[in-house]
Amino acid sequence: MLTIRKAELRDVPVLHRLINHYAAERVLLPRTLTDLYENVWEFTVAEREGQLLGCGALKFYNQEIAEIRSLCVDTALKANGIGRTISESLVEEAKRFGLRTVFALTVTPGFFEKLGFRETPRERFPTKVWRDCLGCPLYTECNEIALSLELAPSSTQEVDAAAETTGVSS
Ligand SMILES: CC(C)(COP(=O)(O)OP(=O)(O)OC[C@H]1O[C@@H](n2cnc3c(N)ncnc32)[C@H](O)[C@@H]1OP(=O)(O)O)[C@@H](O)C(=O)NCCC(=O)NCCS
Repeated sequence: MLTIRKAELRDVPVLHRLINHYAAERVLLPRTLTDLYENVWEFTVAEREGQLLGCGALKFYNQEIAEIRSLCVDTALKANGIGRTISESLVEEAKRFGLRTVFALTVTPGFFEKLGFRETPRERFPTKVWRDCLGCPLYTECNEIALSLELAPSSTQEVDAAAETTGVSS
């Protein structure tokens, strides 16, 4: 059975190997061990019988926007729905945090389109461009496409917002 859970410190060496395999193919940005230990709480992983099969991270930029990054699945297990399951879990996490927009910069836009993401100008996300893109050796020849998913506010947020305007607390 496939288990989806938040990553733990013990997962970091496998996350490092998985992500940097794709970084060597210039599909993902590389991540150092130090970076992964510092940011392990951003990661959700897919596991079966104790084996880590895939991962993805939700990077917050502000109160409304987060990025799905470092999303990948073990090469032998692609096209089994694992990437979709991890991504859906990250989107649910974004909703729980009350975010409005989730975006991704990717060379595989077709995968994100299947999840309801739509192409959008990367200039919408200047902090991302400033933070990662400007330092990237592929900046001038980047073939990544920005896609975003707009999230509807959860019913809890709507109730809270209504309570704020009416003065009623829930
Ligand atoms: C992209 C990736 C995460 C997808 O994970 P996966 O487990 O292979 O994909 P899934 O089986 O969950 O596919 C879900 C849907 O997306 C489609 N899909 C998967 N990869 C696709 C691609 N590269 N292009 C277009 N559609 C794709 C599948 O056909 C499937 O469609 P369906 O629901 O109609 O059957 C995985 O292929 C991967 O690790 N790629 C390398 C790293 C990468 O590119 N990461 C994304 C950048 S952040």
